[in-house]
Order: sequence, then C-alpha cells, then structure tokens
Amino acid sequence: MTHTLHDQRILIIGGGRGIGADIARRVEQAGATSIVATRAGDHDLKLDVLDEETIAAAAASLGPVDHIVSTVSAHHDVPVSDLDHDKVTAAFGTKVVAPLLVAKHLADLVRPGGSMLFFSGVVGWQPKPGTVVKGVANGALDFLVRHLAVELAPLRVNAIAPGLVDSGTWDRLGEAGKSALLAKAAQGSLVGRHGTVGDISDAALWLLGAGYVTGELIHVDGGARHR
Ligand SMILES: NC(=O)c1ccc[n+]([C@@H]2O[C@H](COP(=O)([O-])OP(=O)(O)OC[C@H]3O[C@@H](n4cnc5c(N)ncnc54)[C@H](OP(=O)(O)O)[C@@H]3O)[C@@H](O)[C@H]2O)c1
Repeated sequence: MTHTLHDQRILIIGGGRGIGADIARRVEQAGATSIVATRAGDHDLKLDVLDEETIAAAAASLGPVDHIVSTVSAHHDVPVSDLDHDKVTAAFGTKVVAPLLVAKHLADLVRPGGSMLFFSGVVGWQPKPGTVVKGVANGALDFLVRHLAVELAPLRVNAIAPGLVDSGTWDRLGEAGKSALLAKAAQGSLVGRHGTVGDISDAALWLLGAGYVTGELIHVDGGARHR
C-alpha cells in the first residue's frame, strides 16, 4: 500500500541527529524526500533558528514542501538561582520564537493539505526544580500550535510532547547518569519503560498524514504525566 507521505517533500529542521534524524529516515522509508536542515549546514540545508537571516535564506532556496518538522531545542536545566540570561533566551528562541519565524518565512511554501509539526516535552506538564526554562518553553508550545493553526489555516499546525526518550541527547550525562535517568523514566511511566525514538517517529508520521487534525499537541509519554 502506498503511504500517505509518498512523493512528498518534508523539511526537517534539527534532523541531523536524535528524533529528527529518525523522522528523516522514516519519511524516506515512506517514499517521501527529506530535506534536513542543520545549523552546521552539514546536511541538505543550513538553518540556525536563532538567526532569522538563515531562515529567510532557506525560504529563498527551498521550493515547495508538504510538511515542515522542527525538533530543535536548547537545554538550560538549572535552578532559578543559576539562570543565565543568554541561555534562557536561546531556550525560548528555539522552542517558541523559532516556530513563529519558521511560520513567517516558510508557511507560504507549504502546499495545500500540508502541515507544520513542532516539538514540546513532558516536562512542561511535570514541574520540578531545575527544569523551569524547559518546562515553560514546552508549555508555551501548546498555546503556540493553537494560535498558529488558526492564523495559518487551512495549513495544519501540531506538536508532539515526548516523554523521556533515549535519543542520544542524554549521552551527555555519561553512561551511569543516563542509565539512572532512563530507569527513573521507566518507573515514572504507566507502561513500565522509557520511550524510544521509534515511538516518537510513529506519532510524527501519523500526525503529518492526519488531514483532520490541527491545533493539537499530542502527548507521547507512556502516561508519565499522569503519575
Ligand atoms: N529526548 C528526550 O528525552 C526528549 C524529551 C522530551 C522532549 N524532547 C524534545 O524533542 C525534540 C527532539 O529531541 P532530541 O532528543 O532528538 O534532540 P535535542 O538534543 O533536544 O536537540 C534537538 C536538535 O536541535 C538542534 N538545534 C539546537 N539549536 C539549534 C538551532 N539554533 N538551529 C537549528 N537547530 C538547532 C540540534 O542540532 P545540533 O546538532 O546543531 O546541535 C538537534 O538536532 C526536542 O525539541 C526536545 O526538547 C526530547
């Protein structure tokens, strides 16, 4: 059976690694063409979401697309007393300002029936010390997709809020730190395990093809926020 995404062009901002890279692989498997944008420009397109000129330049060279996915984030997981202004700005820049600027420059390139998909995260619904920046930025995305979906309609705008996923991003904690975090996430879920990039890509591919879904944030967290 031909997949809904067959022959479509899909821009994936942040697709150089982690969840974005898996989505790029999966849309290719589904018969689509992935255009991977990274800030290093080491894939198909150079795009730093904190630099509006690079978004405008990407718009000039991209051509029509069917979907735009952005997985970008900048982590600043510290207690309030240690907040750094530039890092706070970068965290909100990637999660909140970037989708607005992506919409500003790239929405007109999306073909009829297409969509934009952004990434939030479970921590937005699980306040705890040391994650206030990520929590508020992820929560803001929930409102962002509703507002953008109304303004850009009929273009669809959605988001996914993953639970904790072994995407490579936690490698920075070292083997022991990462194992402890993943074990805690498994315990804190309702399904008894942490997430995989495949869990998130499954939801992403479904949402891209879900022509009657817009303005929604879908939680893919193994029920973690209900604990
Ligand atoms: N993994 C999890 O457990 C988890 C849990 C909840 C939510 N999420 C969310 O899911 C999304 C994907 O997560 P992930 O774990 O795959 O990756 P991640 O480590 O959070 O990084 C995401 C991507 O952002 C890109 N990026 C950062 N700043 C950028 C900028 N200024 N311009 C363009 N790209 C930029 C990175 O590219 P570079 O290679 O250039 O750094 C990387 O590809 C994120 O939004 C994350 O917050 C993940």
